[in-house]
Formats: sequence, C-alpha cells, structure tokens
Amino acid sequence: MSEEHSLKILKQGAEAKLFICNYLGRPTLIKERFQKNYRHPDLDTAITKDRIKNEARSIVRCKTANVRTPALYLVDFERRRIYMQHFEKSITIKDFIINHVKKESGDKSLSLIAKLIGETVRKLHENNIIHGDLTTSNMLLVPKSENEDANWLESGELDLVMIDFGLSFIDSSTEDKGVDLYVLERALISTHNDYPDLFDEILDAYKKFSKNNIKEIISKFEEVRARGRKRTMVG
Ligand SMILES: Nc1ncnc2c1ncn2[C@@H]1O[C@H](COP(=O)(O)OP(=O)(O)OP(=O)(O)O)[C@@H](O)[C@H]1O
Ligand SMILES: [Mg+2]
Repeated sequence: MSEEHSLKILKQGAEAKLFICNYLGRPTLIKERFQKNYRHPDLDTAITKDRIKNEARSIVRCKTANVRTPALYLVDFERRRIYMQHFEKSITIKDFIINHVKKESGDKSLSLIAKLIGETVRKLHENNIIHGDLTTSNMLLVPKSENEDANWLESGELDLVMIDFGLSFIDSSTEDKGVDLYVLERALISTHNDYPDLFDEILDAYKKFSKNNIKEIISKFEEVRARGRKRTMVG
C-alpha cells in the first residue's frame, strides 16, 4: 500500500502542511512545504530546498549542542518533504503558557519555562546556531522520559524540544545572536504581553554560566532593539 493513503493531516501552516503517519514503525511527522504561486517556480524551488537544508543541518548540529529536537528520518527534496520524529505527547510553550500557567499561583511553572528557554537558546548560540524564528510556537514541552504517565505536564519533568529550523543558519557573529534574541523578545511581547517579566527571566538564564562573549551579545541585542524602536517611531 502506498504511504499516501495513511497520511493524516495535522496542521496547515503558512509555509507547510504537516502530516502524521507511521514511518518504519515510528510515529512520524511529515512537513511538506508547498509551492508559493506568487514566486517564480525556479526561485520557489530554490528557496524551498534551502529551507529544507537549513532545517536538516540544524537538527543534526543540535545533537552536538545538546539541544533536543525531533530526530530526522528522511529528506525528500523532490516532494519538498522532511520526515521527522513526531512527539505525540507534546504541547507548544505558547499553548502551555496560555492554557496551563495560573497567574495567581506564583507562576512556578513559568520560571521553569523561562529557565528552559534561556538555557536552550544559550546552548544554540554557544554552538553558533542561529534559529531565525524564536517564538513560543517553535518550542515544545515533552516528558523527560518515555514512560511518563498521564500527568506528565504537571510533573515538572519536562524537556524543551526546539523545532522549525527552516530559517536557521550557522554563524558566529554577535550581531546575529543579538538579532535572534530580539526576535524572541518581539514574539513574547506580541503573544504573552500579560507576562512582561518573562523575557528578562529568560535572559538571566541565557547569561548564566555562559562561556562566550556574552557581554558583547547583550550589547548587540540592545543596539538592535534601539534600532527597532527608532524604526517604529519613524515608520
Ligand atoms: N515534531 C513534532 N512533534 C509534535 N508536534 C509538532 C512537531 N513539529 C511541529 N509540531 C506542531 O506543528 C506546529 C507547526 O510546526 P512548524 O513550526 O514546524 O511549522 P510552520 O511552518 O512554522 O507552521 P506554522 O506556520 O503553523 O507556524 C508546531 O507549532 C507544533 O504545534
Ligand atoms: Mg512554526
């Protein structure tokens, strides 16, 4: 039987359709980037191929960085697809903050999440991985161990899994790291404006134990932010 018959659509995003299936006995997510008709077909093919390459390359590099990602199963340029591990037990950090964090309870789970995000982005940057689209939709929470029970979300035994590396690239410049942080700050302001301290808490965890040129990165970040402000005021 062709696998096409057993694909279930999970989500239709702006750039890609996501399917779930069973590939070689494993729960698998297929991300298929569809054609954009406003682009010249050759350009579109080239861009799509780049995105797929970026995604695959960064997933591999994250292994060295000790950052969890879905395992990569297969890349099919012809069909514009990438096959990866599907985390059946998972929730995006965005949905977790919106639906599970209780404002009154002192937000202990929020601090845990801020720490996870800060540490993860630090590990990415220490390995010169620039994510390019740091938002809370592109971070999943999953149970730490395979055989977690139904209450895995409340257990506090959670890992962060980073996804959606289509815009990522490898770079060692402090400027690009600063921009990556700025993208995250903007995303938090627009999605989680009811938690105004979240970004600072993330930044604290990012700075902690950092080996490399953290001061430079932070001052680049502040520079980028100031530029952004100016642009907003003018435009
Ligand atoms: N490996 C995975 N396991 C479980 N869920 C996943 C996985 N990959 C993606 N998802 C879910 O699908 C959503 C979209 O995936 P992704 O960010 O890779 O695609 P996208 O093109 O950015 O889509 P969108 O335009 O909706 O953001 C994620 O926010 C997450 O909810
Ligand atoms: Mg995404």
